[in-house]
Amino acid sequence: MSEVFARIAGTGSYLPARCVTNDELSKTVDTSDEWIFSRTGIRERHYAADNESASDLALIACQRAMKAARVDANDIDLIIVATSTPDMVFPSTACILQDKLGVKEAIAFDVQAVCAGFVYGLATAEKFIRTGAAKCTLVVGTEVFSRIMNWQDRTTCVLFGDGAGAVVLKASTEPGILSTHLHADGSYRQALCAPGTVENGKIRGSPMLTMEGGAVYKFAVKAFEDVAWEALHANGLQPDAIDWFICHQANQRIIMHAAKRLAMPDDKVVITVDRHGNTSAASIPLALDVSVREGKIKPGQIVLMAALGGGFAWGAAIAKW
Ligand code: ACO
Repeated sequence: MSEVFARIAGTGSYLPARCVTNDELSKTVDTSDEWIFSRTGIRERHYAADNESASDLALIACQRAMKAARVDANDIDLIIVATSTPDMVFPSTACILQDKLGVKEAIAFDVQAVCAGFVYGLATAEKFIRTGAAKCTLVVGTEVFSRIMNWQDRTTCVLFGDGAGAVVLKASTEPGILSTHLHADGSYRQALCAPGTVENGKIRGSPMLTMEGGAVYKFAVKAFEDVAWEALHANGLQPDAIDWFICHQANQRIIMHAAKRLAMPDDKVVITVDRHGNTSAASIPLALDVSVREGKIKPGQIVLMAALGGGFAWGAAIAKW
């Protein structure tokens, strides 16, 4: 029997209609376009409407990815949703999305790896496909981080945005996902968290995002570099074999710092954080979809993805387009 590979067959994304620039944000938060842009590269971000949930954003991103991949609801046999801002405590956002998509009986579950969620989801779906347990999967990162922002904390609330990005991953006789590499270190869980929980009908602790920005920055740059080398070595590749470096879009300074350590030229580094802010699990599939639709990523090219988020959880994937 010939080997089964997993290939990205289509991408899609969705940004909520409301776009808020740094100047607009500085009317309600004690900040400025100059501070935000010089520290992070962010110019604007999108916020979901009150009646839009993570599954609503995911629905449109998935429909666009399915159209691009030329598959319909009957073809999908696995849905993995990466989110830290689910519609509800349970059931999973993936089950809600499955129903909204009109997909019947596909396996559906969420993964929780914060900003690394999409890479975790991709790695999981790839293993389902390679073992023959699934043939046509949806992997979607979707977030409404605006709901967990502390608007009194200017060090965090200016950084994040809402959005969704999705890929259709299909079984193929040709290699697509070349390898995936996942890591976690829970001893850093306080550095980036939303520690609140529900207890006896009340919220216990703060449900808002808190972050030790400097610690995250330092850890992220090293983790991106290390995990990228791990992925390159696993495939016998050098950085010059990579056509596009898609790093989690948290902060342009972190991305360029990591790219420099990998000797990755600037023109191979995808930047969407300027337009999207940090959309957590949605950031890599959003950047993928933008790059595909802008005609940057072309068939046969090699894409290196690297992500890190709360936990810390981090990982990388190399895909042949
Ligand atoms: N507007 C204006 N001033 C601000 C703002 C703001 N939004 N936020 C903080 N400041 C002020 C601070 O109060 C401080 O003032 P002070 O010197 O008078 O006390 C000053 O700016 C400098 O603050 P620092 O925190 O030292 O700023 P720094 O240059 O380190 O940048 C930042 C902060 C951008 C958060 C940086 O630490 C960073 O990028 N960290 C990575 C965090 C990140 O991207 N996390 C995303 C999730 S993790 C991930 O996805 C990888």
